[in-house]
Amino acid sequence: MTLLAREVGIRFGATDALRGADIEIGEGELVAVMGPSGSGKSTLLHVLAGILRPDRGEIRLGDRRIDNLADGARSSLRLTSFGFVLQFGDLVPELSLRENVELPLRLLKVRRSETRARAAALLRELEVEEFADRRPGEVSGGQAQRAAVARALVHRPAVVFADEPTGALDSVAGELVLDALTGLARQQGSAVVMVTHEARVAAYADRTVFLRDGQVAA
Ligand SMILES: Nc1ncnc2c1ncn2[C@@H]1O[C@H](COP(=O)(O)OP(=O)(O)OP(=O)(O)O)[C@@H](O)[C@H]1O
Ligand SMILES: [Mg+2]
Repeated sequence: MTLLAREVGIRFGATDALRGADIEIGEGELVAVMGPSGSGKSTLLHVLAGILRPDRGEIRLGDRRIDNLADGARSSLRLTSFGFVLQFGDLVPELSLRENVELPLRLLKVRRSETRARAAALLRELEVEEFADRRPGEVSGGQAQRAAVARALVHRPAVVFADEPTGALDSVAGELVLDALTGLARQQGSAVVMVTHEARVAAYADRTVFLRDGQVAA
């Protein structure tokens, strides 16, 4: 399903964070978003994902307009259709890696046996199976981030949003996370929108979009 933002604007007090931004993410496409600090990259992700409601413009997922949905409908859309990987451990600290990865499927009321099998397969694929019963605070940053990738992908979302997913990792750990995220997303047909300030990271994408002052540069 294509995710499309047209003429999207949002302001925080006196700050115009997005000023008529346009972006289109094709089905299964991997798009990198680059731009200076404060140019609106994180805000664009939050608006695309329905976490923030834009002041103007529109957002569509497939043929459905999603920016003007009521809060409850936007939350359930996030749960069914989107996944998230943030820069720092956004896993639930009290849960094991396995429980974190199972969480989206449990919330979606997927059968217990299928939930267990899908989470286990991803944990294995991402080579964190042996740490699966530890909590995020008991593994390395790279291992936790690979579990975060598994959690973002486990429900086969239409789009995964990643905001500096390797920003806190060294280059070796970062590469493992990127290989996993991009490889598995492609395998299952999830699109990825990834904010990064590193050209090396953007090289994983099909296409790079540059933001400047809240607009997508031509
Ligand atoms: N909740 C908020 N309240 C007020 N201003 C905000 C808020 N969120 C973002 N902004 C402002 O909106 C602009 C865009 O912020 P955003 O976080 O999208 O930038 P960014 O491109 O992600 O930057 P960075 O590379 O530093 O993460 C900035 O000027 C920021 O200060
Ligand atoms: Mg940001």
